[in-house]
Amino acid sequence: MRIFLDTANIDQIRQAAKLGIVSGVTTNPSLVSKEATADYETMTKTICSIVSGSVSVEVLAEDTESMIKEARIKASWAPNVTIKIPATAAGLEAISALSKENIEINMTLCFSLNQALLGALAGATYVSPFVGRLDDVGHDGMQLVKEIVDVFKHYQLSTQVIAASIRHPLHCVAAAKAGAHIATVPYNVLMQMINHPLTDVGISRFLADWRKVSPQ
Ligand code: E4P
Repeated sequence: MRIFLDTANIDQIRQAAKLGIVSGVTTNPSLVSKEATADYETMTKTICSIVSGSVSVEVLAEDTESMIKEARIKASWAPNVTIKIPATAAGLEAISALSKENIEINMTLCFSLNQALLGALAGATYVSPFVGRLDDVGHDGMQLVKEIVDVFKHYQLSTQVIAASIRHPLHCVAAAKAGAHIATVPYNVLMQMINHPLTDVGISRFLADWRKVSPQ
């Protein structure tokens, strides 16, 4: 399973990129609005200069024609831009048209197997089931990830599954076990994935023992 970073914060992206384990970034209007400059174009170009993999940028238009126009403009910002389009009828029509132009699409706000299947049939490169938001309303978000992965495998659909709306490290474990191709994780969750108290205790003990025998 690959890891994308789910943020529009440039400092976090720079820090995470240094680790060499992040293969993409996903942004959305809410994430962009949290940053000091909400200039989506400048922000996207900066992110794309830091990360060479897929950088998801969301369309704000709601009708197909405007989505397509907006997607073409945003896709021209950098070669590694992936366009995020919501799982609606207008969105599916836009995905079908844009995928024929070789524009990478991440179908976002996916909450059902049917939506995921239709996104794949329309030619989406990725579909993003929102695990945390499903859990929030009493549904099993990770079960949906597993079902989508199984169905895509069964029908040999090449669309990749991004486990999105990840809230904690156990979501990442479950996404990997469910066979998600990618988990897109907030920066704090990435840090939680790395840190383990026994690693810190182990380092302290090794150093303490080493100091006992090594000359100062
Ligand atoms: C995914 O691409 C979205 O940006 C994101 O995972 C949404 O997560 P949230 O439910 O925490 O807002």
